[in-house]
Amino acid sequence: MSAVFRPADEGDLEHVKWALYTAVTWDPEGRVPPFEVTIDHPQLALYHRDWMRPGDVGVVAEREGTVVGVAFCRLFTADDHGHGYVDDETPEIAVAVAEGHRGDGLGRRLLDELAKAAREAGFVRLSLSVDTKNPARRLYTRLGYRTISDDDSGVRMVLDL
Ligand SMILES: CC(C)(COP(=O)(O)OP(=O)(O)OC[C@H]1O[C@@H](n2cnc3c(N)ncnc32)[C@H](O)[C@@H]1OP(=O)(O)O)[C@@H](O)C(=O)NCCC(=O)NCCS
Repeated sequence: MSAVFRPADEGDLEHVKWALYTAVTWDPEGRVPPFEVTIDHPQLALYHRDWMRPGDVGVVAEREGTVVGVAFCRLFTADDHGHGYVDDETPEIAVAVAEGHRGDGLGRRLLDELAKAAREAGFVRLSLSVDTKNPARRLYTRLGYRTISDDDSGVRMVLDL
């Protein structure tokens, strides 16, 4: 089934939160508390508060009018950032595709579209953090992301745009 891709806007805050929670709960064996408890934790809130502030770029995939995937990126600063932070000029990305729609190329398309939109916004590099065991690493590697660090908190990767 084909999908429609559109830029994210101010109205996509709930979709961004969904993508973040889906990303942190990627491991079915993981023990992450429920959405309501987790989403406003400072470590996650920093990725969605003031959504669509300057520097935010996002792409939404829809099938039959339903959001089935989101990729977005956001700038951080040296004193306020997550594990994927590289520098103040490099946005960190997050991506998620809904269960039942995975393995069909949507993740790849979302990340391609996000890279394009980020380039058009003037960025020259993207970064991310991914768990060592998350199979998403293979997708990132195929798309040209390269590992710059690998420690107990996860793997950091960057893509030159
Ligand atoms: C990672 C994710 C966005 C990829 O989306 P997708 O539409 O399945 O991706 P594509 O079909 O374009 O590519 C498939 C690749 O995605 C990765 N992948 C990760 N989890 C997957 C899953 N549950 N099912 C299928 N592919 C998955 C693999 O690298 C796979 O490549 P492979 O066939 O070589 O293993 C999606 O699987 C997802 O939302 N996973 C849970 C959230 C998550 O882990 N986000 C990233 C956190 S850093």
